[in-house]
Amino acid sequence: MILHALILVVSIGYTRGAVVDRRQATATTTQSSKVPDYFDTTIGWFAGPTQTGDAPLLAQTNGAPFPGVSYIPNSPLETQAPIAGNIHNANIFQLLGNLSPYFPNPRGFGVSEYSLPLGSNVSWVNMISRHGSRYPTVSSGPQSLGQKVYNSTGNFNATGALSFLNTWKYGLGAEILVPIGKQELFNSGTLHYYQYGHLYPNNGSKIIARTTTQNRMLQSAEYFLAGFFGLGWTQNATLEVTIEQLGYNNTLDGYYLCTNANTAVSAGDINATGLWVSTYLVNATHRIQGMISGDLNWTVLDSYNAQQLCAYETVSLGFSHWCSLFTYEEWQGFEYSLDIAFAGGYGFQSPTGRAIGIGYVEEVLARMQHHVITSPTAQINVTLDNNTITFPVDQTLNFDFSHDANIMAILTAFGLTQFNKYLPPTQIVDRELIVSYLEPFAGRLDIEIIKTPQPVRADRSASNPYVSGPPTSYVHFILNQRTIPLGRSFEECGSRDDGWCEMETFLKVQQTQIELANYDYACNGNYSAVPYGKITNGAPL
Ligand SMILES: *[C@@H]1O[C@H](CO)[C@@H](O)[C@H](O)[C@H]1NC(C)=O
Ligand SMILES: *[C@@H]1O[C@H](CO)[C@@H](O)[C@H](O)[C@H]1NC(C)=O
Ligand SMILES: *[C@@H]1O[C@H](CO)[C@@H](O)[C@H](O)[C@H]1NC(C)=O
Ligand SMILES: *[C@@H]1O[C@H](CO)[C@@H](O)[C@H](O)[C@H]1NC(C)=O
Ligand SMILES: *[C@@H]1O[C@H](CO)[C@@H](O)[C@H](O)[C@H]1NC(C)=O
Ligand SMILES: *[C@@H]1O[C@H](CO)[C@@H](O)[C@H](O)[C@H]1NC(C)=O
Ligand SMILES: *[C@@H]1O[C@H](CO)[C@@H](O)[C@H](O)[C@H]1NC(C)=O
Ligand SMILES: *[C@@H]1O[C@H](CO)[C@@H](O)[C@H](O)[C@H]1NC(C)=O
Ligand SMILES: *[C@@H]1O[C@H](CO)[C@@H](O)[C@H](O)[C@H]1NC(C)=O
Ligand SMILES: *[C@@H]1O[C@H](CO)[C@@H](O)[C@H](O)[C@H]1NC(C)=O
Ligand SMILES: *[C@@H]1O[C@H](CO)[C@@H](O)[C@H](O)[C@H]1NC(C)=O
Ligand SMILES: *[C@@H]1O[C@H](CO)[C@@H](O)[C@H](O)[C@H]1NC(C)=O
Repeated sequence: MILHALILVVSIGYTRGAVVDRRQATATTTQSSKVPDYFDTTIGWFAGPTQTGDAPLLAQTNGAPFPGVSYIPNSPLETQAPIAGNIHNANIFQLLGNLSPYFPNPRGFGVSEYSLPLGSNVSWVNMISRHGSRYPTVSSGPQSLGQKVYNSTGNFNATGALSFLNTWKYGLGAEILVPIGKQELFNSGTLHYYQYGHLYPNNGSKIIARTTTQNRMLQSAEYFLAGFFGLGWTQNATLEVTIEQLGYNNTLDGYYLCTNANTAVSAGDINATGLWVSTYLVNATHRIQGMISGDLNWTVLDSYNAQQLCAYETVSLGFSHWCSLFTYEEWQGFEYSLDIAFAGGYGFQSPTGRAIGIGYVEEVLARMQHHVITSPTAQINVTLDNNTITFPVDQTLNFDFSHDANIMAILTAFGLTQFNKYLPPTQIVDRELIVSYLEPFAGRLDIEIIKTPQPVRADRSASNPYVSGPPTSYVHFILNQRTIPLGRSFEECGSRDDGWCEMETFLKVQQTQIELANYDYACNGNYSAVPYGKITNGAPL
């Protein structure tokens, strides 16, 4: 089986850019408005591709009601199509890795959630959010499958579950938000208002929120702020728009300035993912080829692209025939392919995993300690971070917007080793790194500072939550609405039920993480590519 797969991997032609959303072919325009470029919210300046797609007509295209499934109205996506082998009636739209529409992590990260002890306060929050559901990247797999089918239409006949293909056409746009993507960010803004609305200063002073120039990034931030503050949000927040483009310093897309992140030394995951794809999709590829007569040669890569099309068509058009072509086991395989891609591309299996995210980590630490950043470090743009107009240090609400790959690298840079397990490309293993739990569309990491009048007991089942001692501050990480237990990755934080870490301890631990990222060598050093699996700490060997 493995040998067979190894032969296939050479021909499958899997590329990471097909699924991970960091890439764009930039439509560079010049900035025109009179405000400084970083406060210009006019869409166009380094916006990336903005092609729109077919308008949905779900009233007509919806396949529901499906045989054997009781009718549930779509809300708004149609996700009820039966999946073979789905014995627990699980939701395959939660197995789509980074292409999953937002859902809160259903499993948690290893600890339970606790309410705050009486007398303690949440006093500060720093959110970094991914943009919402979007169209595929230009020239990616789904588009090329669309073109292949289009080229052969009329020369083949498809039958059974594939008969839709006889009249199917690719109709997706490129890269910009789809309707549910806007809703995801609006909902997140609404959720965050309930969580943190009280932290907005009551003296009417505006907060700075940061996003990038890319169309979907700018719009994601705007929908979020509309959800948080209402349509009048420009009275409450100023959006700082940073340039997203190769060669620019930007912590919200930290891979662009990190040269080695864009070369073969950081591409070990591509071979590994290709190997896994050509293993788990063998059955599906034979099955689908069996439904085709005539001139359409169905390959493993087509099967993989078809799985991506299920994800993209569903969020773009509301329903996709591609989804029920695959079994539940094959959807588990799809999730795992993305888990490998993220581990090897931006996680602990990548030599630049930590370096890509470390500039953002340094910004969070600076905000926590109320200072600006005045000397060049990692991918930080000092022009923006060396003053409090563009890098305020006393805000209690900090909102940033970014990409899946970048947030994965930020989790790595913080040193969250609970996600460092090696994922073999030959079989699915139990793991913490499940991309749909970490980076679904509109996924978000919230970092809170909690102030308590006395230290809080590590054992949260005790009747008195406090032990005697001075007022204490804690750091609390929440990813997609579930706590990441800091003690799991940092012994110094202790084994606390609630997953918090005392703030001075956290800050000390993070100094070590900055060293571990080894930014200059990781990003600019001359070292060789090593096979996937050799690197386990997110930095060069
Ligand atoms: C489809 O046909 C066009 C025009 O002949 C060709 O350029 C393109 O490579 C074909 N695409 C695929 C995926 O077969
Ligand atoms: C597809 O099926 C139709 C109807 O059976 C037949 O007329 C046509 O020749 C078939 N086309 C191909 C390419 O097999
Ligand atoms: C408003 O309140 C915030 C938070 O308390 C403070 O940082 C800011 O300086 C105040 N602004 C003015 C204009 O008073
Ligand atoms: C936004 O600012 C306006 C004008 O200062 C204020 O009336 C409104 O209450 C603020 N919105 C929120 C949600 O605090
Ligand atoms: C830093 O940000 C400013 C403001 O957007 C921009 O003009 C400048 O080109 C950026 N510098 C780098 C090196 O990215
Ligand atoms: C492929 O088919 C074999 C034989 O029917 C089965 O044992 C295996 O579980 C299938 N694999 C997948 C990924 O569906
Ligand atoms: C189908 O595509 C595969 C992979 O590209 C290739 O190896 C095979 O020769 C093709 N088969 C036909 C009949 O064209
Ligand atoms: C951009 O980052 C590089 C590498 O850390 C640094 O040398 C340069 O000074 C930075 N530029 C700005 C404007 O911050
Ligand atoms: C901030 O950066 C700008 C541009 O690099 C520089 O002109 C200015 O002197 C810096 N200010 C401080 C306070 O470091
Ligand atoms: C929590 O906030 C209240 C009200 O502002 C304040 O009186 C109290 O001292 C705060 N507690 C801590 C531990 O900061
Ligand atoms: C990088 O290292 C290799 C092997 O040691 C050497 O051949 C090559 O010249 C080096 N490249 C640069 C740009 O220093
Ligand atoms: C990936 O596979 C190619 C082709 O077999 C090989 O040349 C390359 O060294 C591999 N890269 C890594 C990082 O394993």
